[in-house]
Parts: sequence; structure tokens; C-alpha cells
Amino acid sequence: MASTLPPFNPANVQGDILVGLPKKVQHYLFFQIDDDVTAFRKRLHLLIPLITTTAQVQDDRAKIAANKKKAAELGKAPELLRLSGVNIAFSQFGLTKLGIKDDMGDTAFKSGQLNDTPNLGDAGTTVNNKFVPNWINAFKNQIHGVVIISGDCDLTVAATQATVLGIFNIGVRITLHEVLTLKGVVRPGDQKGHEHFGFLDGISQPAVKDFDTKPNPGQETVRQGVILCGREGDVVAGSKPEQPFVRPAWALDGSFLALRYLFQLVPEFDNFLKASADPTKDFTSDLLGARLVGRWKSGAPVDLFPLADNPDAGKDPLQNNNFRYDFPDDFKTQDRCPFAGHTRKTNPRNDLESLGFSTENRRIIRRGVQFGPELTHEEVSSGKTQHGRGLIFVAYCGSITNGFQFIQQSWANNPGFPIQKPITPGFDAIIGQNNQGPNGIGPRSMSGANPNNQNATLSLPTEWVVPKGGEYFFSPSIPALRDTFSL
Ligand code: HEM
Repeated sequence: MASTLPPFNPANVQGDILVGLPKKVQHYLFFQIDDDVTAFRKRLHLLIPLITTTAQVQDDRAKIAANKKKAAELGKAPELLRLSGVNIAFSQFGLTKLGIKDDMGDTAFKSGQLNDTPNLGDAGTTVNNKFVPNWINAFKNQIHGVVIISGDCDLTVAATQATVLGIFNIGVRITLHEVLTLKGVVRPGDQKGHEHFGFLDGISQPAVKDFDTKPNPGQETVRQGVILCGREGDVVAGSKPEQPFVRPAWALDGSFLALRYLFQLVPEFDNFLKASADPTKDFTSDLLGARLVGRWKSGAPVDLFPLADNPDAGKDPLQNNNFRYDFPDDFKTQDRCPFAGHTRKTNPRNDLESLGFSTENRRIIRRGVQFGPELTHEEVSSGKTQHGRGLIFVAYCGSITNGFQFIQQSWANNPGFPIQKPITPGFDAIIGQNNQGPNGIGPRSMSGANPNNQNATLSLPTEWVVPKGGEYFFSPSIPALRDTFSL
């Protein structure tokens, strides 16, 4: 990477990374590039004007805010805004297919997520000495890239997807074929912004230096390189200070994208909470759920509100991130939040900082969207999932090895993390997993779930969040798409 960097320009960065494409519906179109790579690269050039940049997303978001404000002043429902966004990213298989031979300096990206599943702890079996996760077949094939298409409704997204496919496949020449399209949809009504277990999501994101210039209270600012390759703070895992790894110059302002296709077993989760709670001792199923996640369903953090929800604080950005697990007893006790609560495992804040460790290069920006229908009455009464639903999880980071992979492998799946606690914390209650058991799934447990008996170990069902696929991608800058990827 060149030593003198051009100034940061939001028009160079794809829009999903730093701001997030506005969406009610979002499709992930996974594709393979056909054999005429030159034709694909020419068609990619035609797609570039359609790629939504960070600067454009900022404009779109300003339009949405103005529309809402106007509607509130008039006492009417906001007008329907037709908005659609497109981003594109490539896997290592895709780079290889395009003839781009540069080493990106990320071992997880290079090996691809299928080969990384033993590290991620996904359930599976070993066939001919090779670990095969319990994934759907589409993700067991080589995927070269993903087009992310977002919009205000199904029709808008379907129309944009048809335009994208038309660009690549118009006339007799097919340059790309679709492996699979995952269709995400934001949940309806008051569940908007909540994932399928019912918890408000997407609250805690790092602010990016010199870009998010007004962070909310408690929101940490990270250097740009934690998210964008080549910028200040981009740390290549395994690179030695005396001989630093140099990423290819075209990687500047691109970001790695870790995508996971995660199914959620919602009735089973709800029934577990009911069965494990003890409301006679003020240990309600809502409190247990909040302690497993680290936040109440409203978003209110249990570190600030350990005994009862505070819905106003939950939705208030000035309050809902303003905690650090640094109350006087936090380091040693689980009075407020279990050590293995999902938010504490995945961003331990003071648990590491008080020991002198920085968590900056472990931060990720989470995007993604829910998929699948709302619960049916039948599912609620039977307690069994009958329709697939969950989260298309997407994390952007300047290094998969330092960011997404590290969080899943070394924190969520590691019963001994956070370190130096008086009791073994156990697995991240939501996503912690291991593939050590007889059926490719190992037992899971955590401590501290019950505030009245913090030394008790709670056995967790092996499956609540079931990974069924995923891949690691790189989301290049607009100049890289123009000058390196396309012709
Ligand atoms: C935060 C749910 C998967 C990393 C959260 C929050 C919820 C949630 C409700 C709290 C809201 C917020 O702070 O934004 C889920 C569900 C998942 C899932 C239901 C699976 C279906 C993952 C995965 C990772 C992850 C796979 C990474 C390996 C994080 C991080 C935070 C978070 C870093 C922010 C923690 C903080 O800064 O306080 N998640 N999550 N999540 N999650 Fe997840």
C-alpha cells in the first residue's frame, strides 16, 4: 500500500460498509462468473454506475429523515420513497477466477469460509478426513461473489435485481449465473429492527474516525483501518512490525465482508426461557432472555438496567450504548450481566481494557437482515420451528482474522472468555458453539444466567442458532472496481 494515502472520500467506498444501505427488503445474489471472464469484466464496468456509494447512501438517508420530518409536521404517514441500492463483493474464488493474484493478507479470507468451519465451530461430520459442515449445498460450491440489492419493497428489489442480471446476461452472452438468492426482509410493525428472538439489534456499532464525527455516548471511535483496508489502523494479522505485510494498493478503502446464513429456532428458544426461569423468585423468562443477550428486548442494556427493562432508554441512542461493564462489581460478579451474555462476549469492553488490552481491532460493523416469516400460531402452540427464519448476518471489518473470525472462535466459542473471572463464563449463550460432539455438535453451558445463583451452570440447548452457509468476501472500493476488477 502506498505510504502517502489519498484523502478519504466517501464517494469511493461502497455504501453498505460505513452507513448501511437503507432497506425494508434486501437480496443477496450469490453468483459464479462464467468462463468468458473478459466479457464478465466488461459487463462489470457497466454495473459501476449502479453501485451505491457511501456518499449516495448519506443523501438517501437525509431524504428519508426529511420525509419523516415533513410527515410528522403534517400529521400524516410518510410518503413512500422509492429507494434502491446495489453493492458487490468477491470471494477469494472470485479473485482467482478474475485472474487477480494478489495476496490480500487474510488467511481466513484466503481459505474461504467452508474451510474455516472447523474454526468457527459449525456442526458437521468428517468424511474422508475432511470436515463437512451441515450446510445447504449452495454454499458447499464455489461462490465467486455476491451482489447486495436493497430497497423499500419486494417490487423495487426485484426490479433492480432484474436490471443487474440484465447487465451481465443481456443478449446471447451469459457472463454470470446465479447460485442462490437469499431474500431478507425487515420484520413488520413494532418488531422493525428486532431480530427473530425479539431483541432490538444493530445498536452497538463502532464509530469510524473522521467519518462518524458525532458518536453517541459510550460509542467507541475506531481508526478507519479497523474497517477499511489500507487506512490508519489496518493491522494485518500475523504481520511482523519489522517486516510488515503490504496489501495490494487497490485494496485501499475496501472492506472484508463475513456473511453467515444463520437459522434461529424461535419457539424452542422461547420455551427454554420459560422452562428455565423461576418467576416466583423474580427470575422471569424476560429477565433470563435479557441476561443471555446482554440487553432487554427493547435494547436497554442489562449492565445499566439489571432488574427491569427500560424501553425508553432501549430506543434512545443517547443512553443505549453508554455502558462499559465497569460498575465496581462488574469485573468479578455477574450481578448485572453474565460474563457469557452475547453482547459481553462479543464486545467485552472494560473486561479486557481494565487488563490493559485494547479491543479496537476486534470491532466489526454489523449489517445483514432477517429472513423468513413471523411465527405461526401452530409453531407457538407446538413449540417447534416449522418454517425457516433467522439472520443473514453480515460483518464488515478490515481483517476477518482479527475481527469476525476472532470474535466467533476465540471469544464466543471459548468457555474461558472473558479471562480472569472467578468462575468459568461458558459459551456465548446465543452464538457460542463447538463441533466436538458425537453428532458434530458439542454440549454448551454457561454460568451466571440466574442472578440469584450465579455459580450454577445452565445447560444450553445445542441448537438455537444453526449456521447453514456463508462465505467471506471483499467489498472493493469504486476505483478498484473501475481500474482493477472491470475492463
Ligand atoms: C450485538 C443478536 C449473531 C456479534 C447483538 C445484539 C443482539 C444480537 C440482539 C444486541 C444489539 C446491539 O448491540 O446491536 C444476534 C443474533 C445472532 C447474532 C440473534 C444470530 C442469529 C452474531 C454473530 C456475531 C455477533 C455471528 C459475531 C461473531 C455481535 C456484536 C454485537 C452484537 C459484536 C455488539 C456487542 C456490543 O458492542 O455491545 N447481537 N447476534 N452476533 N452481536 Fe450479535
